[in-house]
Amino acid sequence: MASKTHILALPFPLQGHINPMLQLCKTLITKDIRVTLVTTVSISSSLQVQASTTSNLINIETIPDSTPTSEGDIYQVFIDNFKESITQGLPRLIEKHKQSSYPLKAIVYDSVLPWALDIAHRLGLKGAVLFTQPCTVCSIFYHMKQGTLKIPTEDEGSVIMLPAMPPLRLKDLPSLLYDMGAYTSLLNLLIDQFSTYRNADWRLFNTFDKLEDEILRWIASESPILTIGPTIPPLHTDDNEYGLSLFKPDAEAYLKWLETKENSSVVYISFGSLITLGEKQMEEIARGLVESNCFFLWVVRASEESKLPRDFVSEKGLIVNWCSQLQVLAHPAVGCFVTHCGWNSTLEALSLGVPMVAMAQWTDQTTTAKLIADVWQIGIRTKADENDIVTKEEIAGSIKEIMQEERGNEIRRNARKWKQLAKEAINEGGSSHKSITEFAIQLSRS
Ligand code: UDX
Repeated sequence: MASKTHILALPFPLQGHINPMLQLCKTLITKDIRVTLVTTVSISSSLQVQASTTSNLINIETIPDSTPTSEGDIYQVFIDNFKESITQGLPRLIEKHKQSSYPLKAIVYDSVLPWALDIAHRLGLKGAVLFTQPCTVCSIFYHMKQGTLKIPTEDEGSVIMLPAMPPLRLKDLPSLLYDMGAYTSLLNLLIDQFSTYRNADWRLFNTFDKLEDEILRWIASESPILTIGPTIPPLHTDDNEYGLSLFKPDAEAYLKWLETKENSSVVYISFGSLITLGEKQMEEIARGLVESNCFFLWVVRASEESKLPRDFVSEKGLIVNWCSQLQVLAHPAVGCFVTHCGWNSTLEALSLGVPMVAMAQWTDQTTTAKLIADVWQIGIRTKADENDIVTKEEIAGSIKEIMQEERGNEIRRNARKWKQLAKEAINEGGSSHKSITEFAIQLSRS
């Protein structure tokens, strides 16, 4: 159909950013929007297409990689090279598609690529920014950008009060704000999300109304927003994967293994696509899992495998390099998720009613762990020792608390409640469903 509205989607090329963008695009496709996903040649060559039906309808266009020029930490180089390649190649791509029979209307871009809006506007397109972290976290960076958040120097005793947020301790803030280490490039990237915020034609947040109620109302009072989350593929359909993966999943033997286990008897543990742990922490996790005496399924990416304790075997455990996390979290055998609190993992567990042991590592995860434990009360937050290690006793104790103790029952009740609310938000007539429909209508009319 020649009149079909056409948009470009520009995700930040990391798994945790590709997934929500892709899921949003797939929903838009069902609303008769044509989507072209843009990335660089090098990123595209490492993307595996999963057998999901709607994702096959997303056209992928690549932009040649520019010659790396920037210097700095690995993140800075990665960010700068991506920006350079896209800045050079995107205008040509937009011009090409403007001439095509499908009128190109807008670009949906990841919030950490705020410069994409300028390119879009310059070339006559509208721009929708997609935030892939919790609204609470985004709002903290908004305050940083506005200069309305001063980071206290001391942890002890200082409580940070921000509008529409629970009282926060220093270590409830995104870790980059109190423990920057070598990551100034990432901190700047997150603060800069707001450099073109007000000029965006739409501001989309991967969350839902009831989940971050007050803070959503607060940020919406600054500039209008649309909540479109949780962007989770629907299970029990033939489109139950995100659709594009930077990692090759293991053969599905782990699902068969789960089949042999009783309901709620298995601990699933994964730290997402980016986190690297030290050998000492890996050892404490391995020992903690054994000490919990539960069955466990542990995702250890191939690049991390050498850090496992030598000869580590457990008759109760299975280690895989990558799995279909949604299938695992939806499996009745899984009773608890030990997670790094990445926003996608958190939304997936919340939407599937799985209680969490929140073992946050860095960036937004520390704030998400606070929300999981204290606000939504769907998990337990681990504490690190003075060497910043979460010990095996802490890990085993947290798992047992969820799997065996009274506190676990309370957490499960809350998890069921949030699962229901998440479902209501994305089901027909729910708040996120309405927002996406409204967004699609506005795109078609623009
Ligand atoms: C990061 C940040 O942690 C996150 O908070 C941010 O908002 C986006 O970028 P990542 O660390 O990879 O992402 O974690 P997460 O957001 O949880 O995303 C990981 C994704 O990979 C999830 O959608 C999860 O389902 C998927 N995954 C993970 C798999 O499909 N298989 C696995 O074995 C592990």
